[in-house]
Amino acid sequence: MSNFDPDDLDSLLPACTVKPMVNQIRWFIGLDPSDTVRTCAEHDIVVEAYSPFAHGLIVNHPEIEQIAARYGVSAPQLCIRFLLQKGAVVLPKATSTAHIEQNAALDFEISADDMAVLDAMRDTDKHEDAMQFRWS
Ligand SMILES: NC(=O)c1ccc[n+]([C@@H]2O[C@H](COP(=O)([O-])OP(=O)(O)OC[C@H]3O[C@@H](n4cnc5c(N)ncnc54)[C@H](OP(=O)(O)O)[C@@H]3O)[C@@H](O)[C@H]2O)c1
Repeated sequence: MSNFDPDDLDSLLPACTVKPMVNQIRWFIGLDPSDTVRTCAEHDIVVEAYSPFAHGLIVNHPEIEQIAARYGVSAPQLCIRFLLQKGAVVLPKATSTAHIEQNAALDFEISADDMAVLDAMRDTDKHEDAMQFRWS
């Protein structure tokens, strides 16, 4: 499935003979799909997080960069690691080889305190320096 919210799942699941295994949803630091994530967990459905950088808009978010710097990583690495620690399978997209390699280097752990700070962020894709949207 993709983009199924709790109401969609409530409609679909009683009609299934085979339960869907994965729900691919838009999820990045600043967006809160916790209702969907909770419902998926209740039904043992894996959540796959697409657009983990908000299409690139949050790769230069100042507060995310600041926290990332404390771990010696980039904002995109922090974005992926955050979603992994939230239990998601993460689906980043990158066309640059350097980005792809960087996005696979995730051997660090975000502290519970920093997870709480990142969890509380909202509208991160609307920050002042957000790149223009581009679909690559
Ligand atoms: N199921 C659905 O409805 C749905 C909807 C939308 C998207 N998706 C899927 O989700 C995946 C990702 O989506 P997305 O393209 O929207 O966004 P994304 O993964 O959030 O962002 C991609 C952008 O981030 C940049 N980037 C990646 N790694 C970086 C790094 N380490 N440093 C700096 N910039 C970095 C990329 O630049 P470069 O290309 O220059 O490396 C690209 O511009 C795609 O596979 C897409 O098909 C699914």
